[in-house]
Amino acid sequence: MTLRKPGQTVLSAERIQTRVQEIAAQISRDYEGKELTLVGVLKGSYIFLADLSRALTIHAQIDFIGASSYEGSESTGRVRWTAEPASSLRGQHVLAVEDIIDTGRTLQAALERLKAEEPASLRVCALLSKPARREEAVKADYVGFEIADRFLVGYGLDYDGWHRQLPYIAAMDGE
Ligand code: IMP
Ligand code: MG
Repeated sequence: MTLRKPGQTVLSAERIQTRVQEIAAQISRDYEGKELTLVGVLKGSYIFLADLSRALTIHAQIDFIGASSYEGSESTGRVRWTAEPASSLRGQHVLAVEDIIDTGRTLQAALERLKAEEPASLRVCALLSKPARREEAVKADYVGFEIADRFLVGYGLDYDGWHRQLPYIAAMDGE
């Protein structure tokens, strides 16, 4: 099998970095005086979470949950947990960090899973959102970019495991 290469750049590294700084500033203002627990939804959120957390001016802990719903570029519609939070989230201000909200099924499942932990508060931060694809009525409190329905890779997003490490976001359709 030959590796499919990413096509057109949709979001440059500079645009992403500017927006991440803006979101981090907003989150720092909103949670001022509070302690925040960022819970990254693996694997796709790892780069966004790393950049976002380093731009915060408030104290934060980092945890992860692992969700898997895709095979290749197709959503299976089922969410499988591949990692559970390492410590209890009870009574904490939890901000779930997602790479992208597509159908919303992963976020819906993640929110149910996190609510069961009885956090003091629960909000969502997603770098990308594809509103046209939504099937679940879930909304993020912080969104980096609303984007058209194209399959994207880079900055954590993968095509069958590949291209996550790109510092920019590119489309897989066309060439
Ligand atoms: P949802 O459950 O349909 O909302 O899908 C969310 C998950 O699907 C994300 O966390 C991603 O891992 C993956 N996903 C959705 N759209 C894309 C895309 O365009 N590129 C890469 N991964 C995607
Ligand atoms: Mg993925």
